[in-house]
Amino acid sequence: MTPVLEAIHLHQAYPLPRQGLFERRQRVQAVRDVSFRLEEGQTLGIVGESGSGKSTLARLLVALEKPRSGEVLFRGERISGLPERSIRPVRPLIQMIFQDPFGSLDPRMRIGESIAEPLGVAEPWLEVGERAGRVAAMLERVGLQPDMVARYPHQFSGGQRQRIAIARALITKPALLVADEPVSALDVSVQAQILNLLFDLKLEFGLSMVVISHDLAVIRYLCDEVIVMASGQVVEQAATSRLFAAPQAEYTRALMAAMPLLPDARPETDPAGGDISPG
Ligand SMILES: Nc1ncnc2c1ncn2[C@@H]1O[C@H](COP(=O)(O)OP(=O)(O)OP(=O)(O)O)[C@@H](O)[C@H]1O
Ligand SMILES: [Mg+2]
Repeated sequence: MTPVLEAIHLHQAYPLPRQGLFERRQRVQAVRDVSFRLEEGQTLGIVGESGSGKSTLARLLVALEKPRSGEVLFRGERISGLPERSIRPVRPLIQMIFQDPFGSLDPRMRIGESIAEPLGVAEPWLEVGERAGRVAAMLERVGLQPDMVARYPHQFSGGQRQRIAIARALITKPALLVADEPVSALDVSVQAQILNLLFDLKLEFGLSMVVISHDLAVIRYLCDEVIVMASGQVVEQAATSRLFAAPQAEYTRALMAAMPLLPDARPETDPAGGDISPG
């Protein structure tokens, strides 16, 4: 079957500020030769330390940036390096949740307008009432009250704002969702709620997902397969269960060692001596 998303030898580089007048301009190689296939309905995790190129890769995958070389295919068709008008028809099918929860919502727009905006592009023929109905239903689905449409982003908590960002991303019924650090700005109790919501929505919408996180627990919860990145390169790629059972790369082992509190990695409670009863 044709994969929903395919990255083929992707490279991206950015010029660094010139050191001196006659110095040659240096580049940072943000993404170096990244290739993978994402099958329909699957979730791929991308993990790596800060600066390893995860967000850059995300922008390439949703065609917000042109790669320096390489290609991105969506359902077998190239979407990278094309003029915007050629990508426009598939845009509603490919959505992204941005790393910065404030960045994904316009602070001057009521959240109802923000959520409706991509719908206006994807289904411009909808009547006003139909659009409002879709927005209200979506708000309810992500756990917010439909009458919140008239509020502005600053009137919500971080967790609520992320629910709004999810509503905006899913209102066009995309096939692919790229979520860049969907919970890293949230506190731990809210993280679990948002992860559960993403997990349920993935099944309900039949989404294929790319989930970016520096947090292995998030990856383990949501993903079928994982890519570990360092300095723009893939250092390891494996099924999630395999990666956690037997990490191959030194770098992956170091990441795991830096994160001892994985939910499933906690020591088993001792069945015999679990209860300390006076006696
Ligand atoms: N628009 C840009 N212009 C110049 N350099 C950039 C740009 N975007 C990213 N970089 C550089 O590319 C490298 C990868 O950055 P990127 O944001 O992709 O990393 P990341 O893995 O998402 O990090 P984090 O976990 O902190 O979000 C970094 O060295 C960064 O400074
Ligand atoms: Mg990032």
